[in-house]
Amino acid sequence: MDFALPEYTRFKDNTKLDHIPGRYGLPLLGETFRFVLQPFEVLDEHYRKYGPVSKASLTFQKFVVALGPEFMQQLMLDSKQSFSARMGYNTPLGDFFAGGLLMRDFDEHKFHRRIMQTAFKIDAMRSYVDLMHPIIDRELSRWGQQADFHFYPNIKTLLLDIGAKVFLGMDMEGPETRALNQSFLDMNEGMLALIRKDWPGLTYRKGMDGRRALEKFFFDVVPQRRGKQGNDMATFFANEKTEEGEYYSDQVVGEHLIFLLLAAHDTTTSALTMAVHCLAHDQQWQDRLREELQALGKPHLEYEDLSRVTDLDHCFKEILRMNPPVPMMMRRTVKEVELGGYLLQPHTMVQISPLYTHRMEQWWTRPHQFDPDRFTREEHKQHSFLWAPFGGGAHKCIGLHFADMLFKAALSGLLLKYRVRYVKPGQHDGRMQYFPFAKPMDNLPLVLEAL
Ligand code: HEM
Repeated sequence: MDFALPEYTRFKDNTKLDHIPGRYGLPLLGETFRFVLQPFEVLDEHYRKYGPVSKASLTFQKFVVALGPEFMQQLMLDSKQSFSARMGYNTPLGDFFAGGLLMRDFDEHKFHRRIMQTAFKIDAMRSYVDLMHPIIDRELSRWGQQADFHFYPNIKTLLLDIGAKVFLGMDMEGPETRALNQSFLDMNEGMLALIRKDWPGLTYRKGMDGRRALEKFFFDVVPQRRGKQGNDMATFFANEKTEEGEYYSDQVVGEHLIFLLLAAHDTTTSALTMAVHCLAHDQQWQDRLREELQALGKPHLEYEDLSRVTDLDHCFKEILRMNPPVPMMMRRTVKEVELGGYLLQPHTMVQISPLYTHRMEQWWTRPHQFDPDRFTREEHKQHSFLWAPFGGGAHKCIGLHFADMLFKAALSGLLLKYRVRYVKPGQHDGRMQYFPFAKPMDNLPLVLEAL
């Protein structure tokens, strides 16, 4: 089915925001520099000075920022179909996200989300966890042999290996997958480029070349998987049919796979890095998790165990609360909308922030502290959008159970094999990088003590 280009995509952003309190900061770049270093602090200043709804500017864009769970709910549930995800992400990331689920709205989005249904059913999930364990075991043994071990690059490699297997049914060895991996990394680099032009010599061009190489690869892979059996996502997607019983085109399936890789990889890499960062600091919590895992009496978590490891589950939730891998979510209005008492014209950019909502003092006790037990106390249940690292509504993360499974499988493997310690005292207070995803600046050097 072909969907016509929606009328609202033809308009530029509305930047007439005089009636909204707030500030833009520097011309063009706005508050980008401060925000990159201290995102929570900048949002908190806006909240305290101008209230929950204010105007702001980052990376050449002017927008309205709406802080708190009520606005998360309004934008995510979007009961009147007022907010476009496609136009929200279009300016910063549209070229890289092309064809992905976040670049589709309303009925078109619903039609496309169907492509992913079989790949995320329980049977498929069960098979993915079995594919993960041997790769995790192999890599963890390799980690222990490294003299100068840094967690971040190693978990990134591990998750790429798992991604190649689970998403594509491929092993990482071999020139083809290495080239694929490089294209993927180039694309990630290009997404961060400040000058966003596909011109020779620019990082953006390198990223777009990566994207074009991935497109070529995926548009060829999809037809090869039609009518085939397999437990990988590419095979599931390639064999999914529309309600009319037709396959989705090679291009459509290929573009969804590329977006899926993007959405899955850095988010889980960041969550695991931040978890190990907190657990190296908090040895008591590390012991508690290890005891819970040892009590299961198995070398690996099975699918059914995921809901039984309550402490590990609360740790996952707490990590996503403190440093949500998607700290800001973007939408653009498609019609006139009322937001916190202000009327917004069509085509106005709006951002909401899990990062801020997850640390608001009026909802959370000691919000800046690592305290997984807050989920035993059910602090998060005071409002249905108070804890929303996976978003909500039509665009709610389709991979949330996969992320949960991957996080628990990798972390349990690590904790059962090694005690994790910092290399130097005071490491916990070292510098953090928040964008594009949270991680310690030093890439988290660690000592792994075999158990
Ligand atoms: C801790 C890990 C993850 C976090 C925190 C996360 C977070 C999110 C968020 C917040 C959204 C919604 C964005 C919005 O509405 O603006 C989203 C969408 C999405 N995520 Fe995730 N994600 C994670 C892992 C994954 C994984 C592992 C996959 C795939 C296996 C995945 C696939 C997707 C897809 C396809 C969408 C678009 C859904 C749609 O538009 O209908 N994510 N994710």
